[in-house]
Amino acid sequence: YAVVAPTRDLEGMRIAISAGGTREPIDPVRFLGNRSSGAHGVALATRAAARGADVTLVGANLQVAAPAGVRLVEVSTTAELRDAMLLASRDAHATIMAAAVADYRVADVSDAKRKKDAWGANPTLQLVENPDILAELSMRAPRGVVVGFAAETEPDADARRAIAQAKLARKGCDLLVLNQVGMQLGFGDVDTAVEILAPSGVVATAAGAKMSVADAILDSVRSTLQEHA
Ligand code: CTP
Ligand code: CA
Repeated sequence: YAVVAPTRDLEGMRIAISAGGTREPIDPVRFLGNRSSGAHGVALATRAAARGADVTLVGANLQVAAPAGVRLVEVSTTAELRDAMLLASRDAHATIMAAAVADYRVADVSDAKRKKDAWGANPTLQLVENPDILAELSMRAPRGVVVGFAAETEPDADARRAIAQAKLARKGCDLLVLNQVGMQLGFGDVDTAVEILAPSGVVATAAGAKMSVADAILDSVRSTLQEHA
Protein backbone atom coordinates (compact mmCIF):
# COMPACT_ATOMS: atom_id res chain seq x y z
CA TYR A 1 0.00 0.00 0.00
CA ALA A 2 1.00 3.62 -0.32
CA VAL A 3 0.80 6.34 2.27
CA VAL A 4 -0.66 9.30 0.42
CA ALA A 5 0.15 12.78 1.65
CA PRO A 6 -2.96 14.90 2.27
CA THR A 7 -3.46 17.18 -0.73
CA ARG A 8 -4.56 20.76 -0.30
CA ASP A 9 -5.01 21.19 -4.06
CA LEU A 10 -8.20 23.30 -3.71
CA GLU A 11 -6.55 25.91 -1.46
CA GLY A 12 -7.77 29.39 -2.46
CA MET A 13 -10.85 28.04 -4.27
CA ARG A 14 -14.27 29.31 -3.16
CA ILE A 15 -17.02 26.73 -3.69
CA ALA A 16 -20.79 27.06 -3.20
CA ILE A 17 -22.60 23.73 -2.84
CA SER A 18 -26.32 23.08 -2.42
CA ALA A 19 -27.42 19.83 -0.80
CA GLY A 20 -30.55 18.13 0.46
CA GLY A 21 -34.08 18.55 -0.80
CA THR A 22 -36.33 21.58 -0.79
CA ARG A 23 -39.77 21.53 0.84
CA GLU A 24 -42.78 23.52 -0.28
CA PRO A 25 -45.33 24.41 2.41
CA ILE A 26 -49.01 23.61 1.97
CA ASP A 27 -50.01 25.16 5.29
CA PRO A 28 -48.19 25.77 8.62
CA VAL A 29 -47.91 22.03 9.37
CA ARG A 30 -47.64 20.33 5.95
CA PHE A 31 -45.28 20.37 2.98
CA LEU A 32 -44.48 18.75 -0.37
CA GLY A 33 -40.99 17.28 -0.30
CA ASN A 34 -38.62 14.64 -1.64
CA ARG A 35 -36.42 11.89 -0.22
CA SER A 36 -33.03 13.49 -0.81
CA SER A 37 -30.90 13.17 2.36
CA GLY A 38 -28.16 15.51 1.20
CA ALA A 39 -25.48 12.81 1.43
CA HIS A 40 -23.95 13.54 -2.00
CA GLY A 41 -23.72 17.29 -1.47
CA VAL A 42 -22.40 16.82 2.06
CA ALA A 43 -19.71 14.41 0.75
CA LEU A 44 -18.69 17.06 -1.81
CA ALA A 45 -18.53 19.73 0.90
CA THR A 46 -16.52 17.42 3.17
CA ARG A 47 -13.94 16.57 0.50
CA ALA A 48 -13.72 20.14 -0.83
CA ALA A 49 -13.04 21.48 2.67
CA ALA A 50 -10.51 18.69 3.36
CA ARG A 51 -8.70 19.65 0.14
CA GLY A 52 -8.45 23.25 1.30
CA ALA A 53 -11.39 24.96 -0.41
CA ASP A 54 -13.45 27.71 1.19
CA VAL A 55 -16.87 26.04 1.21
CA THR A 56 -20.35 27.47 1.62
CA LEU A 57 -22.84 24.64 2.02
CA VAL A 58 -26.47 25.61 1.42
CA GLY A 59 -28.34 22.79 3.13
CA ALA A 60 -32.03 22.18 2.46
CA ASN A 61 -33.51 19.98 5.18
CA LEU A 62 -30.34 17.90 5.54
CA GLN A 63 -30.85 14.40 6.97
CA VAL A 64 -27.11 13.92 7.48
CA ALA A 65 -24.69 15.97 9.58
CA ALA A 66 -22.88 18.84 7.87
CA PRO A 67 -19.08 18.62 8.08
CA ALA A 68 -16.99 20.87 10.30
CA GLY A 69 -15.01 23.58 8.59
CA VAL A 70 -17.67 24.76 6.13
CA ARG A 71 -19.99 27.76 6.20
CA LEU A 72 -23.48 26.24 6.59
CA VAL A 73 -26.53 28.15 5.41
CA GLU A 74 -29.74 26.32 6.29
CA VAL A 75 -32.77 26.73 4.04
CA SER A 76 -36.03 24.91 3.45
CA THR A 77 -37.99 26.17 0.42
CA THR A 78 -36.82 26.51 -3.18
CA ALA A 79 -37.13 30.31 -2.92
CA GLU A 80 -34.81 30.31 0.10
CA LEU A 81 -32.34 27.99 -1.62
CA ARG A 82 -32.33 30.23 -4.70
CA ASP A 83 -31.58 33.37 -2.65
CA ALA A 84 -28.81 31.63 -0.70
CA MET A 85 -27.17 30.13 -3.80
CA LEU A 86 -27.32 33.38 -5.80
CA LEU A 87 -25.48 35.05 -2.91
CA ALA A 88 -23.00 32.23 -2.18
CA SER A 89 -22.07 31.72 -5.84
CA ARG A 90 -21.55 35.42 -6.57
CA ASP A 91 -17.79 35.30 -6.00
CA ALA A 92 -17.35 31.52 -6.15
CA HIS A 93 -14.91 29.77 -8.47
CA ALA A 94 -17.28 26.80 -8.54
CA THR A 95 -21.00 26.36 -7.90
CA ILE A 96 -22.42 22.88 -7.46
CA MET A 97 -26.19 22.24 -7.45
CA ALA A 98 -26.41 18.86 -5.71
CA ALA A 99 -29.77 19.65 -4.06
CA ALA A 100 -33.00 18.04 -5.20
CA VAL A 101 -35.07 21.10 -6.01
CA ALA A 102 -38.87 20.89 -5.95
CA ASP A 103 -40.07 21.52 -9.51
CA TYR A 104 -43.34 23.03 -8.24
CA ARG A 105 -44.61 24.92 -5.22
CA VAL A 106 -48.13 25.32 -3.85
CA ALA A 107 -49.95 28.22 -5.51
CA ASP A 108 -51.70 29.55 -2.43
CA VAL A 109 -50.14 28.57 0.89
CA SER A 110 -52.73 28.65 3.65
CA ASP A 111 -51.92 30.73 6.77
CA ALA A 112 -54.13 28.43 8.82
CA LYS A 113 -54.06 24.65 9.00
CA ARG A 114 -56.33 23.28 6.30
CA LYS A 115 -59.38 21.49 7.72
CA LYS A 116 -61.01 18.47 6.13
CA ASP A 117 -64.49 19.98 6.18
CA ALA A 118 -63.29 22.91 4.06
CA TRP A 119 -61.02 20.77 1.85
CA GLY A 120 -63.62 18.10 1.11
CA ALA A 121 -63.27 14.48 -0.01
CA ASN A 122 -61.34 15.00 -3.28
CA PRO A 123 -59.24 18.14 -2.90
CA THR A 124 -56.81 19.35 -5.56
CA LEU A 125 -53.62 21.30 -4.92
CA GLN A 126 -52.85 24.03 -7.44
CA LEU A 127 -49.12 24.07 -8.17
CA VAL A 128 -46.91 26.62 -9.92
CA GLU A 129 -43.50 25.98 -11.49
CA ASN A 130 -40.44 26.99 -9.49
CA PRO A 131 -37.59 28.98 -11.05
CA ASP A 132 -34.75 26.88 -12.48
CA ILE A 133 -31.89 27.85 -10.17
CA LEU A 134 -29.19 25.94 -12.08
CA ALA A 135 -30.17 27.61 -15.37
CA GLU A 136 -30.18 30.99 -13.66
CA LEU A 137 -26.73 30.43 -12.10
CA SER A 138 -25.42 29.25 -15.48
CA MET A 139 -26.72 32.35 -17.26
CA ARG A 140 -24.85 34.83 -15.09
CA ALA A 141 -21.67 36.46 -16.37
CA PRO A 142 -18.97 36.52 -15.30
CA ARG A 143 -19.24 33.29 -13.40
CA GLY A 144 -17.18 30.36 -12.20
CA VAL A 145 -17.62 26.71 -13.14
CA VAL A 146 -21.27 25.63 -12.71
CA VAL A 147 -22.14 21.99 -12.03
CA GLY A 148 -25.55 20.28 -12.09
CA PHE A 149 -26.76 16.83 -11.10
CA ALA A 150 -29.22 14.52 -12.82
CA ALA A 151 -30.57 11.22 -11.50
CA GLU A 152 -32.17 9.46 -14.43
CA THR A 153 -34.08 6.17 -14.34
CA GLU A 154 -33.78 5.47 -18.09
CA PRO A 155 -32.36 1.89 -18.17
CA ASP A 156 -30.49 2.14 -21.50
CA ALA A 157 -27.06 3.70 -20.94
CA ASP A 158 -26.89 5.52 -24.29
CA ALA A 159 -30.43 6.89 -23.98
CA ARG A 160 -29.74 7.96 -20.39
CA ARG A 161 -26.59 9.78 -21.50
CA ALA A 162 -28.52 11.49 -24.30
CA ILE A 163 -31.16 12.73 -21.83
CA ALA A 164 -28.42 14.08 -19.56
CA GLN A 165 -26.51 15.69 -22.43
CA ALA A 166 -29.70 17.49 -23.52
CA LYS A 167 -30.32 18.58 -19.92
CA LEU A 168 -26.79 20.01 -19.70
CA ALA A 169 -27.34 21.99 -22.90
CA ARG A 170 -30.76 23.24 -21.72
CA LYS A 171 -29.38 24.40 -18.36
CA GLY A 172 -26.20 25.89 -19.83
CA CYS A 173 -23.94 24.50 -17.10
CA ASP A 174 -20.31 23.40 -17.59
CA LEU A 175 -20.58 19.93 -16.04
CA LEU A 176 -23.48 17.59 -15.31
CA VAL A 177 -23.09 14.64 -12.95
CA LEU A 178 -25.26 11.80 -14.20
CA ASN A 179 -26.37 9.36 -11.54
CA GLN A 180 -27.04 5.87 -12.85
CA VAL A 181 -29.96 5.21 -10.53
CA GLY A 182 -31.29 1.70 -10.10
CA MET A 183 -27.95 0.04 -10.89
CA GLN A 184 -26.61 -2.74 -8.63
CA LEU A 185 -22.96 -1.96 -8.13
CA GLY A 186 -21.71 -3.69 -5.06
CA PHE A 187 -21.79 -3.93 -1.32
CA GLY A 188 -20.77 -2.00 1.74
CA ASP A 189 -19.64 1.50 1.00
CA VAL A 190 -19.52 0.88 -2.75
CA ASP A 191 -22.67 2.82 -3.17
CA THR A 192 -22.72 5.13 -6.14
CA ALA A 193 -21.72 5.39 -9.81
CA VAL A 194 -21.67 8.53 -11.94
CA GLU A 195 -20.71 9.81 -15.35
CA ILE A 196 -19.46 13.38 -15.51
CA LEU A 197 -20.58 15.14 -18.69
CA ALA A 198 -19.36 18.34 -20.31
CA PRO A 199 -20.80 19.94 -23.48
CA SER A 200 -18.27 17.81 -25.41
CA GLY A 201 -19.51 14.54 -23.87
CA VAL A 202 -18.38 12.24 -21.04
CA VAL A 203 -15.21 13.58 -19.39
CA ALA A 204 -14.96 11.16 -16.45
CA THR A 205 -16.66 8.23 -14.75
CA ALA A 206 -16.48 7.29 -11.10
CA ALA A 207 -17.89 4.49 -8.96
CA GLY A 208 -17.46 3.62 -5.34
CA ALA A 209 -17.87 5.26 -1.96
CA LYS A 210 -19.53 8.67 -1.88
CA MET A 211 -16.30 10.34 -0.71
CA SER A 212 -14.22 8.99 -3.61
CA VAL A 213 -16.93 9.88 -6.14
CA ALA A 214 -16.98 13.37 -4.59
CA ASP A 215 -13.21 13.59 -5.12
CA ALA A 216 -13.61 12.60 -8.79
CA ILE A 217 -16.25 15.31 -9.29
CA LEU A 218 -13.97 17.89 -7.64
CA ASP A 219 -11.10 16.75 -9.92
CA SER A 220 -13.29 17.50 -12.96
CA VAL A 221 -14.29 20.87 -11.50
CA ARG A 222 -10.62 21.71 -10.97
CA SER A 223 -9.64 20.75 -14.56
CA THR A 224 -12.59 22.70 -15.99
CA LEU A 225 -11.57 25.75 -13.96
CA GLN A 226 -8.01 25.43 -15.28
CA GLU A 227 -9.28 25.14 -18.88
CA HIS A 228 -11.35 28.29 -18.41
CA ALA A 229 -8.44 30.24 -16.89
N1 CTP B 1 -32.52 22.33 -10.52
C1 CTP B 1 -32.59 23.66 -10.18
N2 CTP B 1 -33.79 24.29 -10.09
C2 CTP B 1 -34.93 23.63 -10.36
C3 CTP B 1 -34.88 22.26 -10.72
C4 CTP B 1 -33.66 21.63 -10.79
O1 CTP B 1 -31.54 24.27 -9.95
N3 CTP B 1 -36.09 24.27 -10.28
C5 CTP B 1 -31.20 21.68 -10.64
C6 CTP B 1 -30.94 20.50 -9.71
O2 CTP B 1 -30.35 20.93 -8.51
C7 CTP B 1 -29.98 19.65 -10.55
C8 CTP B 1 -30.36 19.95 -11.98
O3 CTP B 1 -31.10 21.18 -11.95
O4 CTP B 1 -28.65 20.05 -10.36
C9 CTP B 1 -31.17 18.90 -12.67
O5 CTP B 1 -32.35 18.67 -11.96
P1 CTP B 1 -33.48 17.77 -12.61
O6 CTP B 1 -34.59 17.62 -11.64
O7 CTP B 1 -32.82 16.53 -13.13
O8 CTP B 1 -33.86 18.67 -13.87
P2 CTP B 1 -35.23 19.30 -14.31
O9 CTP B 1 -34.88 20.42 -15.22
O10 CTP B 1 -36.08 19.65 -13.13
O11 CTP B 1 -35.90 18.18 -15.20
P3 CTP B 1 -36.84 16.92 -14.80
O12 CTP B 1 -37.11 16.95 -13.31
O13 CTP B 1 -38.06 17.10 -15.64
O14 CTP B 1 -36.03 15.71 -15.24
CA1 CA C 1 -36.75 18.18 -11.48
